[in-house]
Amino acid sequence: MIKKVAARWTACALLPLIATSIACGHSHAPHHGGPLGHRFDDPESWSARWDDPARDEWQRPAEVIEAMAIEPGMALVDLGAGTGYFLPHLAAAAGPDGAVEALDVEAPMVDWLKNRIARDAISGASARLVPFDDPQLPAASVDRVLIVNTWHHIPERPTYGAHLTRALKPGGAVVIVDYALDSPVGPPAEMRLSPESVVADLEAAGLKAAIIPEALPRQYIVVGRLP
Ligand SMILES: C[S@@+](CC[C@H](N)C(=O)[O-])C[C@H]1O[C@@H](n2cnc3c(N)ncnc32)[C@H](O)[C@@H]1O
Repeated sequence: MIKKVAARWTACALLPLIATSIACGHSHAPHHGGPLGHRFDDPESWSARWDDPARDEWQRPAEVIEAMAIEPGMALVDLGAGTGYFLPHLAAAAGPDGAVEALDVEAPMVDWLKNRIARDAISGASARLVPFDDPQLPAASVDRVLIVNTWHHIPERPTYGAHLTRALKPGGAVVIVDYALDSPVGPPAEMRLSPESVVADLEAAGLKAAIIPEALPRQYIVVGRLP
């Protein structure tokens, strides 16, 4: 169950900024230059941050998976999968009859994902390169789309959201996890999105969206479902 986490907010805020920045995998410069100018083409260095075991403490993958309400056998997408932090969690939730597709815009990241899937024998998982403006998903093919720390990189979000809506099966949902405006770490303030604006993006794309309140110490979760 997702619980209030005020105490951990406080603990997080008290950590030295440099330490939390490394743990979060977000530096404040120069890696947030904007959706199209920004590159994540060095998976090895990003993996040291994004796959740091200390991340589990604030990322709380079990709570994210719970918010996704995944059932065994579902078809899942991890959009902006990066180095694949969420892949084992998604694959475990989908089970042996499910599938997880990891999508990313960076070719080196997709190669890294493919290697990770093979190395760790992540059952039912695959990885694919996509363009910035379209996940190129077949219509009515996906039960859940997870988007962690990536929505703020996507240009033309309502238009992009419409691609996601089209890809959802009946009962499908898009789950967006991104940094809270007042998180002590994360992208620069000008790149952050309020949870309300994420709700508006998803509603503009035809979904019924809601914020899961106080879900995580540093981030919000917005769930958009097919009405
Ligand atoms: C901050 S990382 C987050 C990685 C992963 N979701 C995680 O939480 O560890 C953002 C990732 O999204 C990818 N990305 C950025 N814009 C994208 C887009 N328009 N479509 C798909 N992936 C994108 C980047 O290449 C990068 O790997």
